[in-house]
Amino acid sequence: MTKTLHLGQTLSFTGDPFIEGPAAATHSSRGAVLVEGGRVSATGEADALRAAHPEAIVEDHGDGLILPGFVDAHMHYPQTAMIASWGKRLIDWLNSYTFPEEGKFADRAYADEIAGRTLDLALAHGTTTLTSFCTIHPSSVDAFFEAAQARGMAGFAGKTCMDRNAPDYLSDTSQSAYDDSKALLERWHGKGRATYVITPRFSPTSTPEQLEALGALWAESPSCLMQTHLSEQVDEIEWVKSLYPQARDYLDTYEAHGLLGERGLYGHAIHLEPREADRLRETGAGLVHCPTSNTFIGSGLFDMAARVAEGQRIGLASDTGGGSSFSMLRVMGAAYEIGQLKRNPIHPAQLLWLATEGSAKVLHAEGEIGRLAPGAMADMIVLDLASTPGIAQRSAVASDIWEALFPTIMMGDDRAIAATYVAGRRMKG
Ligand code: GUN
Ligand code: FE
Repeated sequence: MTKTLHLGQTLSFTGDPFIEGPAAATHSSRGAVLVEGGRVSATGEADALRAAHPEAIVEDHGDGLILPGFVDAHMHYPQTAMIASWGKRLIDWLNSYTFPEEGKFADRAYADEIAGRTLDLALAHGTTTLTSFCTIHPSSVDAFFEAAQARGMAGFAGKTCMDRNAPDYLSDTSQSAYDDSKALLERWHGKGRATYVITPRFSPTSTPEQLEALGALWAESPSCLMQTHLSEQVDEIEWVKSLYPQARDYLDTYEAHGLLGERGLYGHAIHLEPREADRLRETGAGLVHCPTSNTFIGSGLFDMAARVAEGQRIGLASDTGGGSSFSMLRVMGAAYEIGQLKRNPIHPAQLLWLATEGSAKVLHAEGEIGRLAPGAMADMIVLDLASTPGIAQRSAVASDIWEALFPTIMMGDDRAIAATYVAGRRMKG
């Protein structure tokens, strides 16, 4: 089997930087990653691995920083073409931009075009795994998984279900949502690198009957993930309370219908009540922080310090097109800025961990993606820490790897991604 030895700077986590601080990461200024059969087979110092594997093909990335590809734990591929739409808050933004665009996915050719475009944009920005909402159209799910499969990428996605408060052309029923989701998960879940994610959009666009049907489907297919939105905007929460008068809080609308669990992904989770935070932690559910979306739509400030102190499982995501950037570097930068507004300076080691290992953990895919260690898939990127003159002049005088990396987190974009690999295959650079 062909062996490829990648040489460059390397950074890898041996622990959780939210517990151990930056010491949870090991940096090598001349490190190496050995790839065989699409997986990482060894990591270490360049000289030692070269000597041990003299037959390996060498790819020398110089000062480039070899990292796991970024893992985006929540986004909407059907919103790619309407990213950065000006001027609305959540509910108006959904009605005036999002739903008309999602309606176009009745056309399979359009879905194929946008799925391919989205995955190519992701790879150009160093994101090797997307977790996506699709539209209510089952063929939008086929389009996403087929495009991911064609690129060798892991994909997490599901049919978005809505049976009220959505236009007729985007509405299903509780029965068709169950039937279509079941057929799709039977077609895709566990096929190659595909994971099916049962996807009620959010409580306002589902009847209690639909949530109940999807909760039953999840109970029948417990290895699937489940994704939705939770407590994003204050007026949304008020709406949920009026639609579900019996519910104790927003999370209870999911919990009461079998939609709270360890393999559940709850996007935003900003304005949590104490009971909600307790239940999320007790069940080990995944909270997905979407900072560029939260600032863009004006949703609020995620309380990272409180959630970390509670011991929540937390991932990071772009939430495009509610989020205004395809770059997980920009998403990390926005997470830092929101942290600053909450008087919590999130360390670059923690930001990097959230965008890789943290997201992989909420997806229950740690060890497989989000990490460059023996056994993991060789989904990896090479970061140029001097990709623009402004970044280069700052990283040139850095005193350690974190100071060298942080300007790229705050100021970097797709120009900082010197190369992207999926299962060892070069997709960029
Ligand atoms: N809540 C329900 N649907 C959406 C969506 O598409 N984007 C965001 N940001 N929030 C939502
Ligand atoms: Fe979202």
